[in-house]
Amino acid sequence: MKACKIGDNVWWVGAIDWERKLFDGLIPLPDGTSYNCYLVQGSDKSALIDTVEPSMKETLFARLKSLNVSRIDYVISNHAEQDHSGSIPDVLSAFPMAKVVTSDKGKPLLLEMLPIPEDRITVVRDGEMLDLGDRSLQFIYFPWVHWPETMLTWLPKQKTLFTCDLFGSHLASADLFATDEAAVLSAAKRYYAEIMMPFKTAIEGKFGAVTKLEPQVIAPSHGPIYRRPQMILDAYREWTSGPPKNLVLIPYISMHDSTRLMVTHFVEACMDRGIQAEQFNLADGDIGKFAMVLVDAAAIVFGSPIVLGGPHPKVAYAALLANALRPKAKFLSVIGSYGWGGKLAEPLQSMLSGVKAEFIPPVLAKGFPRPQDYAALDELAEAIRTRITQTPTAAPPQPESSPQSDQTKYVCQVCRYVYDPAKGDPAGGIPPGTPFEKIPDNWVCPICRVPKSMFKPVWAVPAAAR
Ligand code: FEO
Repeated sequence: MKACKIGDNVWWVGAIDWERKLFDGLIPLPDGTSYNCYLVQGSDKSALIDTVEPSMKETLFARLKSLNVSRIDYVISNHAEQDHSGSIPDVLSAFPMAKVVTSDKGKPLLLEMLPIPEDRITVVRDGEMLDLGDRSLQFIYFPWVHWPETMLTWLPKQKTLFTCDLFGSHLASADLFATDEAAVLSAAKRYYAEIMMPFKTAIEGKFGAVTKLEPQVIAPSHGPIYRRPQMILDAYREWTSGPPKNLVLIPYISMHDSTRLMVTHFVEACMDRGIQAEQFNLADGDIGKFAMVLVDAAAIVFGSPIVLGGPHPKVAYAALLANALRPKAKFLSVIGSYGWGGKLAEPLQSMLSGVKAEFIPPVLAKGFPRPQDYAALDELAEAIRTRITQTPTAAPPQPESSPQSDQTKYVCQVCRYVYDPAKGDPAGGIPPGTPFEKIPDNWVCPICRVPKSMFKPVWAVPAAAR
């Protein structure tokens, strides 16, 4: 078990957790995860940046041993959550001279959660430098990625930024670097949706502090390292600050098929109006995929039967999760069927009070849906189309029969980036005003790097293909 060099005297000494299936007892990890930590060896001092999940501390020590590390002077704690801080007590025992370096809010959190002597913790200020001899580290306070104490560590000499949770991905991989950018971007989007989306305002507010550094390497503490940081920076800019997309998400449960019939009709009604729609069956769906669609959706329409006088518990869970994740959706509604009575829309609306969106009146059918219920679903789809049209989105809806023209926008089938001919893709060498058909075949999606062939006209994207 060896350390891996990621730069001159900068080493990855982390652990790959191939087997982990769940995080926080909540988040599915279909591809495992990793706990990255890094050793920076200066001419005078050495610093370990974060540690690993305590269950994997032997891996960390084995990698340090492979380098014959005899002293660590500083353990930088960018984030006090135990998957990064939990092995600090063992590192302090193994290296008695080492001091923990953390933010002002990091110190009390570490003291509360771990057996660390207070006199071994040093607090650094925002922007403070730490001299290691031939290089220095700088600390950048970046609260709320993902706790209030979080900070980033910057190694100016090598333009490397250590970001802990920020820009991470739950992805166990033998490739330490983000070589397969499409795969890493997909994992990073899942991670953003599940972990970072509630903090998008905080990320937006401090984003400039990252971009102005012009990092050449971004080294998070979960998932692969970015040697082309622009990819993940562009994606985060879009996820946090971009407008919602022309997309309706319909999470639903059906017990006796009535709600499913309503959902199917509603999805088709949206498609007929040029709205992208994605139905998501909560009975056995991957809640991480649900969260990923929340990143982009302009509207969320929950489908549920009434069970024991209220929403189906799995729909209630999805509503509570959406509420906690704070998506940028602008419109909410409810559709579903009931038998003898109860309330559906009111409790769901209450559970979604944290989503700052307009609640459009629900469509409820007594028993199986009848013509008037389908007509009401058509009206709901039309109401959403009207609102999306009046709201800035990345891809305004167009009629299904929209003729193709030089101004036709194209959507990436992987990440939903929309190519707008009016804007072009100047960073990719495509000037504004270039119709999609005129783009060279070797052009790739600026977000997820898939080829041009992965794009379709916005108005021609069927829900089933998304
Ligand atoms: Fe990876 Fe917030 O811990």
